[in-house]
Amino acid sequence: MNEIPHHIAIVMDGNGRWATRRFLPRVAGHKSGLDTLRACVRRCGEIGVRVLTVFAFSSENWNRPAEEISGLMELLAMALGREVPQLMAEGVRIHFVGDRSALSGKMRVGLAHAEAATAGNSRLIFNVCFNYGGRWDMAQAAARLARAGEPITEQTIDRALALAHVPDPDLLIRTGGEKRLSNFLLWQAAYAELHFSDKLWPEFDAAALDEAIKDYGQRERRFGKTSAQVALSAGKKVA
Ligand code: FPP
Repeated sequence: MNEIPHHIAIVMDGNGRWATRRFLPRVAGHKSGLDTLRACVRRCGEIGVRVLTVFAFSSENWNRPAEEISGLMELLAMALGREVPQLMAEGVRIHFVGDRSALSGKMRVGLAHAEAATAGNSRLIFNVCFNYGGRWDMAQAAARLARAGEPITEQTIDRALALAHVPDPDLLIRTGGEKRLSNFLLWQAAYAELHFSDKLWPEFDAAALDEAIKDYGQRERRFGKTSAQVALSAGKKVA
């Protein structure tokens, strides 16, 4: 097996198109996307990925048709009720990342329950970004630091961001053929390797995940250094 990224982040794009091509309502695509997500969590645990972060609902998704928004909210509520036993069986700790103030009280209680129930698990950390945006995250971090009278440095911002509990993503995957970040992990993806798949999210199976990891394994991660420096620190002979 290839080198396994410690942290994989995914923009799960293409649910709507998947549904429309089948003459189904867009929400049917999100339902199918939830099945794909379940399989992806399982696969990540199996192969030794330690952190998985997914973009389930962006700050901008409120602009979608009301029917789709309520469908996504219902899907989340349904998932909260049903998925915890599988997360427990697979040693997955779930975190919800994003602005909860816009969510209903019932939903907020559901998120907190799922987090508390899985808090003892450590095989895989699973971050579900819901009502999340990279700009929201940077703004809330800056506001938090300002309130505490703390200096603004890379380190203090890093610690105030909503994903402070995990290292930055190594591999960021976007499905659905588009090649953009769409306000996802703007700070944390600074050195992530990007992999774009033409597959629509409901079609993104284990083989597609393995393919993304293989692609990642072929990249040289330089973090600003030269290729020769990287080879030297890896103990390789430089030509
Ligand atoms: C983007 O595809 C996908 C979303 C906005 C929602 C992602 C949600 C899931 C995969 C289901 C998991 C849900 C929860 C609640 C945990 P799109 O709708 O933009 O697709 P399109 O580009 O084809 O229109």
